[in-house]
Amino acid sequence: MTAAETTQRQSLRSQRLNQITHEPHSKLDALVKAHAPFETQANFARFVVAQYLFQSELVSLYNDAELIAIVPDLPERCRAEAAKADLTDLQTAVPAPVAGAVNNPGKAQALGWIFVSEGSKLGAAFLIKRAVGLGLSETFGARHLGEPAGGRAEGWKSFVKTLDGLEFSAEEEAAVEKGAIDAFNRFTVLLEQAYATAPELA
Ligand code: HEM
Repeated sequence: MTAAETTQRQSLRSQRLNQITHEPHSKLDALVKAHAPFETQANFARFVVAQYLFQSELVSLYNDAELIAIVPDLPERCRAEAAKADLTDLQTAVPAPVAGAVNNPGKAQALGWIFVSEGSKLGAAFLIKRAVGLGLSETFGARHLGEPAGGRAEGWKSFVKTLDGLEFSAEEEAAVEKGAIDAFNRFTVLLEQAYATAPELA
């Protein structure tokens, strides 16, 4: 890569978001693995509880008219229903909401949350392979980790291209970054909560 290309990459919003979330991502990755989600279906079900809680908190953002004007296929990208179906497959009760969900963020901040939710579909490519070892698949128990319609890489690239093409004020740049960091913090809280709760049968 030439020096000019390197500078251009670093100035891309998505690259900056990648950079500032590198550490929280590594910590979350380690935390997920510390709970051994692929050891038993019961452990995996707790991971799905966290995923469901996170996704269900983002439903209003995935269906927000102002955001859909920017990302037209946003509603189809939402995985709350898939995660809920996984809970049913795993005979796990739908968890009650956890206080502290994101509430009415501005456009840029909301896009920071969605960046993290969409990005998590990349890691999901690895996770679903492990879930197969538990007898699960993208049609049973691990639906929310499945390949999105149109392809995983394509979905991510088109989202990032849109995000990188938006004109943001300095305040909005700060807000999108805050949204991304908040999203990682929130997932961490929900993951801890999910594993702290005794498994319940549906
Ligand atoms: C709630 C948010 C997220 C969670 C829970 C999450 C979880 C994980 C986990 C557990 C892995 C490890 C998979 C394995 O090694 O078996 C992983 C890998 C990965 N994640 Fe995430 N992730 C999240 C957000 C993101 C975001 C925002 C991005 C991109 C911007 C991303 C990109 C990746 C990529 C490319 C990998 C593959 C290997 C690597 O580079 O570490 N993830 N993720």
